[in-house]
Amino acid sequence: MPELVNGNPSPKSHIKTLMRIGYDLNSAVADIIDNSISAEASEIAVACPPDSSEPYILISDNGIGMNEGELIENMRIGCKDPSLERDLKDLGRFGSGMKTASFSQARKLTVISKKKGSNICAAYWDIDEIEETDTWCLKKLNTNEIKDIPQLSNNPISKNGTLLIWEKIPKFFIKDHVSLEKEIASNMVDLAKYISLHFHKFMQGPNKVSISVQNRELKPLDPFLKGQPGSQDGPSEPIRTKKGKVTVNTHILPHPKRISKSLIDEHGGIDEIYKNQGLYIYRANRLIIAGGWMGISNTNILGNLARVEINIPASLDDEWSTDVKKSSMQLPPKVKTVLKRLGKVPVEGSKKEHNYSGNKQIANQYWDIIEDEVKKTVKYHIYLDNNELKSFTEELTKDKKIALKKYLQNLCINLPYYHIFQKHAADPKAIEQNEIDLDTFIKARKELDKIWNT
Ligand SMILES: Nc1ncnc2c1ncn2[C@@H]1O[C@H](COP(=O)(O)OP(=O)(O)O)[C@@H](O)[C@H]1O
Ligand SMILES: [Mg+2]
Repeated sequence: MPELVNGNPSPKSHIKTLMRIGYDLNSAVADIIDNSISAEASEIAVACPPDSSEPYILISDNGIGMNEGELIENMRIGCKDPSLERDLKDLGRFGSGMKTASFSQARKLTVISKKKGSNICAAYWDIDEIEETDTWCLKKLNTNEIKDIPQLSNNPISKNGTLLIWEKIPKFFIKDHVSLEKEIASNMVDLAKYISLHFHKFMQGPNKVSISVQNRELKPLDPFLKGQPGSQDGPSEPIRTKKGKVTVNTHILPHPKRISKSLIDEHGGIDEIYKNQGLYIYRANRLIIAGGWMGISNTNILGNLARVEINIPASLDDEWSTDVKKSSMQLPPKVKTVLKRLGKVPVEGSKKEHNYSGNKQIANQYWDIIEDEVKKTVKYHIYLDNNELKSFTEELTKDKKIALKKYLQNLCINLPYYHIFQKHAADPKAIEQNEIDLDTFIKARKELDKIWNT
């Protein structure tokens, strides 16, 4: 008979693995917001006060909350069986998001919660303590200790709700205060955009959830620009499986020429809109995958207005291999077949939208095509509104800006279009633009290599 030996992982080592599941700040906060939505919150607030010398992030909601017994149970990692049938609206699965998402960003997680009719309760995990003692030392706070939590005084839980506090955030271990403030500000701007997009379906309609970041209520960011003049809905199709129904809807965005500048800015600029063609997979209304074709189609420059919306219920997590972070999924074979067929429709629609859109087209985020129908001429211009170009020109001196402008102008003038035309006419496959490898090219020219590496 084999001898039973203790094979428990050492908490000190295990916690290091749990901290590195692969969340980033945005996906970690999103996992916490999932919990608030599952707890029926109508208001959720995320804040990171920029003026604190020891930055912390607060995520609060007015959901149903937890009593002390529930809180202690739910603070355990893997507190629920992933194969449990859950309520349709429940966005959870593995019983670990609250802890692992938090540990990916912060070395201390405090959860304070109040359920109607129960006392307020609080508990915390501190990774420093787990590492020092090599034990799973969850700490419960008593009423006086809860009163002393400084962050609670500005964010009291009145009737019911939950407040998470992330402290000791390695990302914000920055001594210089100005740099720290900048880092917090840019992270919060990024986060606000991520939440506006990934939770946009919850932020509209009669039961809308209000979500704020840094005290500013977010506006939903609809990737299909529904209701905008010129946006088109293509064919839809349901796919039934044993455990639930998937719906596929196709969309074609209006050409950016027909979208207002403010809406383009809300979406992060034209190149952001162009970059994100492909599949949009929603799990129980929460966006998980935002763009990319996952192998069912090639990215096509003129297909950049094509979007395919896929709605799946959380009951299909097994079939779609939803991961712990809820940030990746795999298409089941049956769905792939439908998507390969249906995906062509918006891509074709997008090409037509480009052709239809008149004499000035933006071919992609690097080139403009300017056609003059009166003079019957065409010009190929560098696309000057490109965000990458704008961001590095900002740092240049005036002289360098002038030199760069001249260089770009010459680049356009000297486009070897006769050669391209001849080659393309003779043998279109001979042109290998996708294979351009600048590193090898630069190394082959020693002088260039010096400039590039200084
Ligand atoms: N904001 C919240 N309000 C109420 N209950 C919560 C909240 N956050 C988490 N919980 C409870 O804690 C449990 C564990 O959460 P979590 O670790 O994220 O795993 P999962 O969401 O997969 O169940 C949830 O199922 C829920 O019962
Ligand atoms: Mg969860």
